[in-house]
Amino acid sequence: MRVIAIANQKGGVGKTTVAMQVGAELSRRHRVLVVDVDRQQSTVWWAENVRDGLPFDFAGSQHPNMLSRLRELGADYEVVLVDTPGSLEDTAVLETVLDAADFALIPVTPEPLAVEPTLRTLSRLIEPRHLRHGVLLNRIDPRVPNQLETWQRLLDCELGVPRLEAHLRQYKVQLDAPVLGQLVTSLRRNRRTEGPIADIAAIARELEQLLAPAPAGAW
Ligand SMILES: Nc1ncnc2c1ncn2[C@@H]1O[C@H](COP(=O)(O)OP(=O)(O)O)[C@@H](O)[C@H]1O
Ligand SMILES: [Mg+2]
Repeated sequence: MRVIAIANQKGGVGKTTVAMQVGAELSRRHRVLVVDVDRQQSTVWWAENVRDGLPFDFAGSQHPNMLSRLRELGADYEVVLVDTPGSLEDTAVLETVLDAADFALIPVTPEPLAVEPTLRTLSRLIEPRHLRHGVLLNRIDPRVPNQLETWQRLLDCELGVPRLEAHLRQYKVQLDAPVLGQLVTSLRRNRRTEGPIADIAAIARELEQLLAPAPAGAW
């Protein structure tokens, strides 16, 4: 069982979007549980809007202690994705999740105001735990020249934080998804949906590689 905490103390960077969409994509190949410990319960609302049934198991409005109990019970999930709160008042909740996590996925949007809270989350909560982590660029706008490259360079060279190679572009499909109850696994492929489907698939693949057990004899 691999527990992936989706975390950033900055709100609105895509934690809920990533939890639901990447959870759906991973559920094509793995037994997945998506857990919501956020008081805002955005995933609960989203899950209620899904008409054709969720492709993963879902546990809404959970106390974060349930994560350590999942392990004790030997729960039968390969991946557990945890959507966490984005406000500073809920730091205790986030800390309990991070204590139980194998990896922290940190979505960030390409806005100067997102940088400081993201760095604070990393330096105060993630790095002291020596928790493996990766920043995920979200809402990249392909119409803005060099936006992706500029932000990749900022993360790599100036801030020196690890990031995923994959990223998520800004799409109306993603904006509408919670209210329409849409997940990438239920979208029909067409010109409008192929971008978001491909982005989420690339993120899921990279997470699988990052979290795969080291091949025998690698050490
Ligand atoms: N890649 C994207 N393209 C378009 N809209 C997005 C994208 N990612 C997130 N959003 C939208 O941005 C808002 C905030 O995203 P959300 O996942 O709720 O962030 P958080 O959980 O970090 O607060 C939501 O309205 C969501 O639909
Ligand atoms: Mg959220």
